[in-house]
Amino acid sequence: MVCAYRARASRWPSPLFVDPWADQLAGKDGHAMARDIDLRFPPMEVWLAVRVAYLDRLVGIAVDRLSVRQIVILGAGYDTRAARLPRAGVRFFEVDHPATQAAKCARLAELDGYPIDAATYVRCNFETDDPVDRLAASGFDLHEPAFVIWEGVVSYLTEDVIRSAASRLATGLDPRSLLAFEFLGKNYGTGAKVQPADVGARTYIGDLGEPIRFGSDDVLPLLYDCGFRWVRVHDFNELALELLHDYQRERQFRFQRLALAAVQAPAAGWP
Ligand SMILES: C[S@@+](CC[C@H](N)C(=O)[O-])C[C@H]1O[C@@H](n2cnc3c(N)ncnc32)[C@H](O)[C@@H]1O
Repeated sequence: MVCAYRARASRWPSPLFVDPWADQLAGKDGHAMARDIDLRFPPMEVWLAVRVAYLDRLVGIAVDRLSVRQIVILGAGYDTRAARLPRAGVRFFEVDHPATQAAKCARLAELDGYPIDAATYVRCNFETDDPVDRLAASGFDLHEPAFVIWEGVVSYLTEDVIRSAASRLATGLDPRSLLAFEFLGKNYGTGAKVQPADVGARTYIGDLGEPIRFGSDDVLPLLYDCGFRWVRVHDFNELALELLHDYQRERQFRFQRLALAAVQAPAAGWP
């Protein structure tokens, strides 16, 4: 489904990014799911496009301004950054649940020209495995900084699992490392008080077998508990305004935010 949206966003008249593999990765099923979500949450395409584009931009800033040479994508799913954003001397590590990763690699092998070796694939179930240990066992250098992307994942984990993984990132990675993840608001994430207009998309995603379990209106205390000492939270309306140069009230990014966290304050140039 995410690939379908990346494929559609790649065809915008002035695209924020172009993903040449997204269409094939989405397949008919992915496009059908995206059409179902459109009916339930119309701003989904814009939200995903801004999310992908902003994180792409952060990869560029991490590499070009902060000299980061390791990009870690946690819960990578059908992410294609390793293929889309190759840089000399920069390694991409895709960390994912073994089942998802096996399905993805099988799919990638069917694509003509996909550079499957562009990433190192790291099998990790966040519920049972230590992501830092798994990375170290796969050739990741714990003494060099990394930019860690956790995109579209924390919403599907319990808070305990998020705390455990985030604590390991804060304590186990080089302290110059940077983390970025997007998250949903508390009412939507926990399902406690979901507005009627939002019930359809939440239920649809849960029915696909991946229920939304986590949401927060203030992730700073959680990140502080885990060991992070620098946190910034961006609102998706602001990111959309910055990237698309306009604002439409009907987008209603009422509960989508993006957090940046680090153990020590990043060097100048990090947003
Ligand atoms: C909605 S997909 C997002 C994929 C991708 N990051 C993106 O934004 O397109 C959720 C991802 O979280 C991963 N995930 C969910 N629970 C996990 C767990 N317990 N351990 C490892 N990965 C998990 C899934 O395997 C999947 O790749």
